Amino acid sequence: MIWTSPMKRCLRAGALGLVAALLAVALAVMLNSCASAPRTVFAPPGISGATFAGNRACAGCHSNYTRSFAVSPHGRVAFADAPMRAESGCESCHGPGSKHIAAGGGLGLIVNPGKNPAACFECHLETHAEFNLPHHHPVAENKMNCVQCHDPHGRDIFKTAGGLAMARLNQTCAACHREQTRPAVFEHEAMREGCTTCHNPHGSVNRKMLTQADANMCLRCHAQNQGVFSGSGTILIGAVDHTAFLSRATCWASGCHTAVHGSNVDPRLRY
Ligand code: HEC
Ligand code: HEC
Ligand code: HEC
Ligand code: HEC
Ligand code: HEC
Ligand code: HEC
Ligand code: HEC
Repeated sequence: MIWTSPMKRCLRAGALGLVAALLAVALAVMLNSCASAPRTVFAPPGISGATFAGNRACAGCHSNYTRSFAVSPHGRVAFADAPMRAESGCESCHGPGSKHIAAGGGLGLIVNPGKNPAACFECHLETHAEFNLPHHHPVAENKMNCVQCHDPHGRDIFKTAGGLAMARLNQTCAACHREQTRPAVFEHEAMREGCTTCHNPHGSVNRKMLTQADANMCLRCHAQNQGVFSGSGTILIGAVDHTAFLSRATCWASGCHTAVHGSNVDPRLRY
């Protein structure tokens, strides 16, 4: 059976747009227009011969998951044509559950997207596109999975499943990247905005998954252009004339600000 909905078309169009243009602007527009689309959904994973049982059917054996699920972002997901509209959230990721239930919890009769993210990509096409970019976390390679950064069942999807903190606040990243997250004598205040200020955690066209490849990533916060007034085109950063430096290399290369995550020896962020 084929499930269609405005949301699905919206996500598909968005993914194509992303691949074609890779414009942050296009992405923002796409997310906005998707946010206003009806919350109806798409093609859940197939399990041959199984039918939908509804969220309540899972509760008897998995109350730890059903309890908090209603407030989770996916608790609002529903199938347009399903007999139990708004009751199919669990099965949108796990596939129809009737055979799993009939077997008293048969493994192999239910999908576990923690082992294979294909179920997530069914709806999140733009995320799929990001993980296919040249520099990405090795999810498609099966060395990592979505739940190391997202909790699919709980109130806050931006924390790790069973973990403590929000990805936005860096602790999720800290679990694997201690070097960049340990305290430093000279901290870089940009870190307070979160790792995603400079990195796209799913993937990027730029090395090290950077959001931008050049000095513009830093100039978003640091530029002070004096040229408007003096006519000289001088770029001052922290009262230092950077005009000549900026044409040479990225801010973090050439020994200038190599310790972008914080330094223990130099307030100008060097090792
Ligand atoms: C957004 C997709 C998604 C939705 C919706 C979802 N799950 Fe899951 N579920 C997952 C993922 C991903 C895992 C793997 C978690 C892990 O490995 O820690 C999982 C794992 C599980 C497991 C196995 C846990 C284990 O120990 O191996 C159970 C049971 C489960 N989910 C039940 C449910 C129930 C019940 C619902 C509805 C209340 C639900 N899920 C809704 C994505 C989802
Ligand atoms: C009759 C009890 C029962 C019901 C009802 C039930 N399950 Fe399960 N489920 C189990 C048992 C038992 C396991 C196996 C746990 C184990 O061995 O680790 C399991 C395992 C799972 C797993 C993990 C599979 C894996 O490969 O890791 C998922 C996901 C899951 N259930 C989802 C669901 C969903 C979604 C529903 C509702 C549609 C549901 N279950 C209804 C008993 C049940
Ligand atoms: C059946 C379609 C569907 C599947 C499958 C699905 N999602 Fe979603 N997901 C959605 C929809 C729709 C929303 C938006 C919910 C909202 O905004 O109310 C969403 C929201 C999210 C968000 C939050 C986005 C935000 O900005 O708040 C994350 C993170 C996410 N999903 C991750 C996952 C992961 C990880 C999986 C697989 C384990 C998954 N999704 C599987 C449809 C799906
Ligand atoms: C390395 C950690 C990490 C992994 C792995 C990861 N995500 Fe994310 N994801 C994030 C962070 C952090 C955000 C928030 C981005 C932001 O706020 O700018 C996010 C945001 C999202 C969103 C909201 C839309 C967006 O792009 O901002 C969706 C949907 C999503 N992730 C789905 C997934 C799916 C599906 C997987 C697995 C295939 C996955 N993520 C794996 C860290 C991760
Ligand atoms: C579960 C462990 C894990 C988590 C959590 C995690 N990462 Fe990673 N990270 C990895 C792995 C594995 C690699 C790939 C290393 C490789 O390919 O050699 C990687 C690579 C990276 C790289 C590129 C390094 C390079 O040498 O190219 C960056 C940047 C990065 N991660 C940032 C983040 C950010 C930001 C977060 C939080 C949103 C995060 N990571 C969360 C495991 C993790
Ligand atoms: C102000 C921008 C900025 C912020 C914020 C930031 N990073 Fe980075 N990160 C960079 C740059 C620039 C590089 C590339 C450095 C290089 O190539 O030498 C990098 C490289 C990395 C690498 C690869 C290190 C290596 O040796 O190859 C990892 C891992 C990483 N960052 C993780 C993180 C994590 C985790 C956070 C949040 C705690 C974070 N970053 C926050 C700018 C930033
Ligand atoms: C989200 C905003 C933001 C981004 C992006 C950002 N920074 Fe910063 N940075 C700050 C803030 C805030 C401070 C502390 C106040 C100040 O000195 O301007 C700071 C301080 C610094 C300092 C110390 C200045 C001094 O003399 O004490 C250096 C060096 C620096 N940043 C370099 C960089 C580099 C290199 C990049 C790009 C990889 C970058 N910053 C990206 C916000 C940012």
